[in-house]
Amino acid sequence: MKNEEIYENNKQNNLINNSKLGKNNTNENNEYKYKYESEVLNLSPEFKDFEANFKIIVIGNSGVGKTCITNQAVSNIFINNHQATIGMEIFTLFLKIDKKIIKFQIWDTCGEETYRSLVTNFYRSTSLAILVYSIDQRDSFRELDLWIKELRLNNSPDTKLVLVGNKLDLENNRQIQYAEGKKFADDYGFIDFFETSAKTGENIKRMFLKIGNILYDEYIKYSEDANRKYNTFKENKCQLRRKTKGKPKKKFC
Ligand code: GTP
Repeated sequence: MKNEEIYENNKQNNLINNSKLGKNNTNENNEYKYKYESEVLNLSPEFKDFEANFKIIVIGNSGVGKTCITNQAVSNIFINNHQATIGMEIFTLFLKIDKKIIKFQIWDTCGEETYRSLVTNFYRSTSLAILVYSIDQRDSFRELDLWIKELRLNNSPDTKLVLVGNKLDLENNRQIQYAEGKKFADDYGFIDFFETSAKTGENIKRMFLKIGNILYDEYIKYSEDANRKYNTFKENKCQLRRKTKGKPKKKFC
């Protein structure tokens, strides 16, 4: 099937629009206004006609729900039993932001301590890292420091970070309050903080759409910047040629 057909086939059934997403927001402090018109698409991983591609890594202690978050975002499913990820698994998610299709390559990593050194190999060239703890597990929150340290050691300091407190549906067992998570995110310079439930789906797609907006925004700025630099370079070269030889070469001027 052609790319356009895959897109058209899925468009009607699978789009989740801003207005639907706005209804379930229980975190009053979070604002879910997107800069661009935003939708989650359900396209085949083989779809090729996208504008930009971003690598996103999901890290955090074992059992906090990294795989479930990814599965919920990509396939709308929740798996109840815990099967520890071996190494890592790559998922694909397409978003439509500002009428452009962007692709997320989501690297779901294993959180088990024995394999942590292995995970550091996957950090390279990551656009954004989603660091997950579970709101009912104090240990997973306490160890966020370690994850941040390892990420900083093995990746560019520019890699953006999003903090996620998962298992929001387990409110009765909550050990980390929303304000504590938010403060941690602010103190460490995370670009955003969400509480999610991979079980009910609450805030999962909203989080990826927000990430999509942020990365797309940066992509646009970068492209404009590159264009500006190229045009300045072209102009300088023309001026130099005019000064030295009189006639500029056709290629540039
Ligand atoms: P590793 O692969 O070992 O690093 O674990 P992980 O972080 O990928 O955890 P996973 O997604 O496998 O989930 C671990 C357990 O938590 C499973 O039993 C899930 O069903 C459960 N779980 C994940 N997310 C949620 C959630 O939002 N709410 C509830 N109640 N349970 C969840």
